[in-house]
Amino acid sequence: MNEANEQSLNKHTAGYWRFMREFVRNPRQIGAICPSSPFLARRMASLVPGGDGVVVELGPGGGAVTAALLNHGVATQDLVLVERSAALSAHLAKRFPGVHLIQGDAMHLSRFGILSRPVRAVVSSLPLRSLPRSVVRQILDQVALISGPGTVFIQFSYALRGSYQNMAHGFERDQAHLVWRNLPPARIEAFRFQPRNLQ
Ligand SMILES: C[S@@+](CC[C@H](N)C(=O)[O-])C[C@H]1O[C@@H](n2cnc3c(N)ncnc32)[C@H](O)[C@@H]1O
Repeated sequence: MNEANEQSLNKHTAGYWRFMREFVRNPRQIGAICPSSPFLARRMASLVPGGDGVVVELGPGGGAVTAALLNHGVATQDLVLVERSAALSAHLAKRFPGVHLIQGDAMHLSRFGILSRPVRAVVSSLPLRSLPRSVVRQILDQVALISGPGTVFIQFSYALRGSYQNMAHGFERDQAHLVWRNLPPARIEAFRFQPRNLQ
């Protein structure tokens, strides 16, 4: 194994253990029994459209999806990470130097100065199924606030059925994909922001 591969493997392993420690501390906030698989991470990243604008990742955790977004071609300077856990934020800062990292709560997204540039996509690993409904409502309202026409909102969950569609005001469901190679299997939904739907 060459030195670069070894360094990348070490960072990945450190992310795994940091994630598991956080899970033991606060399972409801983490909402997953292990980090996203590379298959899930790659599939989510593949739904991010090319072009200008910022890509906001919510709940990057150990960084599996972050790494996939960078590999997919999202430029470092176009990526903004919003992670609530201090321990996972410290890990992300080390693993992805140069990426704009906000240690904060997605419930307050519109306060983070992201609005200075158009948002191309919001990629979320937030455990929306295990958070209280009022919190989910506020997070989705905040996602709508930072979105513009055409912004894509990508969310995965372990519920193989159901949708956030009626909770995400202004968003229309675009596509859904099952990813079996993840523990447990996951479903990704992608929505497109259509402000005309906001009445
Ligand atoms: C399912 S885990 C992340 C999975 C990630 N893709 C990985 O492989 O590590 C969910 C993440 O969302 C974060 N989180 C939960 N609630 C949050 C909130 N309100 N704002 C920001 N981050 C939050 C948790 O700290 C955790 O890192």
